[in-house]
Amino acid sequence: MQQDFQQVLIDRQRIADRVHEVAQAILADLSRETADGQTLDITLVPILTGSLIFVADLIRHLPLRLRIRLVSISSYPGCATQSQGVTFQQQLTDIPSDLSGQHVLLIDDILDSGRTLAAARTLLAQRNPASLRTCVLLRKQRPGIQRMEVDYACFDIPDHFIVGYGLDYNGYYRNVPDIVQLKPDVFAPGQS
Ligand code: IMP
Ligand code: MG
Repeated sequence: MQQDFQQVLIDRQRIADRVHEVAQAILADLSRETADGQTLDITLVPILTGSLIFVADLIRHLPLRLRIRLVSISSYPGCATQSQGVTFQQQLTDIPSDLSGQHVLLIDDILDSGRTLAAARTLLAQRNPASLRTCVLLRKQRPGIQRMEVDYACFDIPDHFIVGYGLDYNGYYRNVPDIVQLKPDVFAPGQS
């Protein structure tokens, strides 16, 4: 597997440090929602499959009474490295139709065109949450495109296709502990 990597973009220690920092920012913002010391009803909505590792690390820095509701969306099926449009895997969607009173944090691995997160945010906003924030591990620099803003982004990265720490190419490399850039010949075997 190592021979497929061009470079490590963000190593595991930097990821761990920054995830901790962002969790502190989320905690600070949520604590401001608590007007009179009552317990908040917090719902995290991770978008599968890419945010799996990120959310597992993030929640261990959030000492709150929270619930997790999964949503499965794919926009880069198989070997695609460009967004192929947004598809909700409805059978895995586990979101109550009424989110009133709940403070929702929508989490994805990466903001690229922003279509995936915008589609999920629209779906959640229709369910009337008390608050709705968005959090991504990575935000790709895409100069010139108009896209949604997120409330929390751990890292801004160049416009390269990357894998690891939950992100995949054709389903592989999610288990790589660092965020890495793949060699071009992984996408086009024999042509680099
Ligand atoms: P968007 O809808 O264009 O913002 O794409 C976001 C989704 O595409 C993310 O949830 C990822 O699953 C996937 N994606 C975007 N860029 C990459 C990448 O560089 N590597 C792996 N997956 C990516
Ligand atoms: Mg994804």
